[in-house]
Amino acid sequence: MNPSAQIQAFFDEATNTVSYLVADPITRQAAVIDPVLDYEHRSGKVSTTSADRLLAAADEQGLAIAWILETHAHADHLSAAPYLKGKTGARVAIGEHIREVQTLFRPVFHLDDVSGDGSEFDHLLRDGETFRIGSLEVQVMHTPGHTPACVSYRIGDAVFVGDTLFMPDYGTARADFPGGSAQTLYRSIRRLLALPPQTRLFMCHDYKAPGRATHAWESRVADQRARNVHVHDGVDEAAFVAMRQQRDATLAAPALLLPSIQVNIRAGRLPVAESNGVRYLKIPLRLPA
Ligand SMILES: [Fe+2]
Repeated sequence: MNPSAQIQAFFDEATNTVSYLVADPITRQAAVIDPVLDYEHRSGKVSTTSADRLLAAADEQGLAIAWILETHAHADHLSAAPYLKGKTGARVAIGEHIREVQTLFRPVFHLDDVSGDGSEFDHLLRDGETFRIGSLEVQVMHTPGHTPACVSYRIGDAVFVGDTLFMPDYGTARADFPGGSAQTLYRSIRRLLALPPQTRLFMCHDYKAPGRATHAWESRVADQRARNVHVHDGVDEAAFVAMRQQRDATLAAPALLLPSIQVNIRAGRLPVAESNGVRYLKIPLRLPA
């Protein structure tokens, strides 16, 4: 029988990201989902406070981190996957469609060290694939729309949905990044919401909807179906797509879009240091025509 996963959430105030430590209580094997590397854009300062919290929690509980799982190539924070991999030897996995995301963004940054075949990651996950964290079985669901490579991780009655859904009072993620699609996102969401009503859904972000005092990141399929402001039952695909496209047209680029994407499509690897020992990110300038 699949035992219940132990789930701990770690909220990063700076980027509104929720990282998870998911453990098998029997074997003490664990996975980290969507770890954040702390990065101050104004100063270029990088630190590992958030990732160290995850490591300390794993240490305290005698957990061995075997997997680092990304739900997608994030556009709002840098991944701490390489740092955690260096500390634990864990394998880094992401959805196989990361190849498309690499191919889309490699020319944007003129990067010659991005493969386009996903080989920067240790393992590329297919829809329906299963793998284990100790005795826990993880099922991969390809849930594209926010990006082409988004996956959700289903472990027993818990699903880590990435940016496919937000809390019911906040709605859904944007679908206007290159390769994104509101129509595809709607279909992925319906697939998640077809799971049993008591299924627990764990978000990757929370922005505290107006009127809510505290951050939250866990809901159930039934709550989403009843109350999600964008996709409750009764909202059809055409209505969702119209709403999403109209809303996305008003959104500015995320503050860390450019730093995040160029790093995260390299599995979180920072750029190679130049001859002076300093690493530099690239910002493509958009000049007037
Ligand atoms: Fe995202």
